[in-house]
Amino acid sequence: MSEPKDRQAPPSPRWIALVLAAGEGRRMHSETPKVLHEAGGRPLLHWPLHAAREAGAEQAVVVVAPGAEQVRASVGDTFADFARFAEQPVPRGTGDAVRCGLAAIPETPPGTLLVVLYGDCPLVRPETLARLVRAATNADGPATLVTGELSDPSGYGRILRDEHGRVVAIREHRDCSEQERAIREVNPGLYAFRAGFLREALADLRPDNAQGELYLTDVVALAAERGGVADLPGEMAELRGVNDRVQLAEAERVLRRRTAERLARSGVTVRDLDAVVVDPECEVAPDVVLERGVHLRGRCRIGRGARIDVGCVLTDVEVAPGARLLPYTVASASRIGEHAQVGPFSHLRPASDIGPECRVGNFVETKKTRMGQGSKANHLAYLGDGDIGRGVNVGAGTIFCNYDGFQKHTT
Ligand code: UD1
Ligand code: CA
Repeated sequence: MSEPKDRQAPPSPRWIALVLAAGEGRRMHSETPKVLHEAGGRPLLHWPLHAAREAGAEQAVVVVAPGAEQVRASVGDTFADFARFAEQPVPRGTGDAVRCGLAAIPETPPGTLLVVLYGDCPLVRPETLARLVRAATNADGPATLVTGELSDPSGYGRILRDEHGRVVAIREHRDCSEQERAIREVNPGLYAFRAGFLREALADLRPDNAQGELYLTDVVALAAERGGVADLPGEMAELRGVNDRVQLAEAERVLRRRTAERLARSGVTVRDLDAVVVDPECEVAPDVVLERGVHLRGRCRIGRGARIDVGCVLTDVEVAPGARLLPYTVASASRIGEHAQVGPFSHLRPASDIGPECRVGNFVETKKTRMGQGSKANHLAYLGDGDIGRGVNVGAGTIFCNYDGFQKHTT
């Protein structure tokens, strides 16, 4: 039954995300592009893209450096229908990057909202983007920005306000006077602009600053003159950027903790919220217990009531309801049946299929082996390319390795 017309939520405004990812990331000291370094189980750049998609952006334009094949491939795989690319030939600053992004969407009407995000800010939550879009939709002026407070604001652009408290400009750290450096209100780098204003303002930017770059942040002073800047307080905890590997590790901690809390709220017992590492695409059912030091990587699926004990590392593993994994089990691309017990110290290599109520014990390695219901291999065995029926007891010291020097045969 459909809702009566007057009770329907207003249609959400149309907006486009512009994600900047063409910077050099020199402070990472890496061969890998900065935005492809991983935190919380995803490349940095994927986080703002996920957030934008969840918050209702109709598309994203990702500004990349020339070449950048790795970045294109990584984004293209996950965001095929959502993200398109724009190239910034030379990294001449964030203002220039946005100009390049706009050039890729020339047909955009001037009233369209563009939300600019930095590819090195993985902590931004979808709710915050939605809040920014709402504020920008209701604002009179052409620019809306999120601001934050930091006890140590060094490195960030500072928010300058007039005597009425209105935002008049952003000054980059390097260009600040002694007095301006004392300002603790900073620019986290999250803005919404009307497309028409932005196109005009970017054409007016000059590289007259310490870095000789075209700063997107200078657009804010122009907006203050041309209709005003709306501002929205944000939590710095979700707005920090990643410029070096210390900040990368900090982002990792925050993102892992968020995933652990989400699971705990959905009914998973997480013994220590800061000591499990679960990738965001894993599915964990209620009443699962995750002990300390558990790592769930890739796309694991853990069924209701399963217990995963200390130190287990699972990659793309399906664990059926009620199964028990004892400490230090390592498994990848495998299945573990209902009420089976695996570990301690078992190693399931790809395509192991451990049936319901099976037992696999210490120092047992399996690969491409199926074990029928209730079978056991309790100690010290290698079971490769095997097909084991139901109720079989494989003794200690058994090896399945049916290899004739050319081909592997199924045992
Ligand atoms: C920027 C802001 C600063 C803010 C901080 C928040 C400017 C001028 N400064 O500084 O006010 O406090 O972020 O984290 O915007 N990029 C390009 N092309 C370029 C340069 C940068 O695509 O030519 C991209 C980078 O890949 C990065 C983002 O823009 O994702 C930000 O660039 P970065 O050099 O990290 O800016 P900050 O110095 O951190
Ligand atoms: Ca940055």
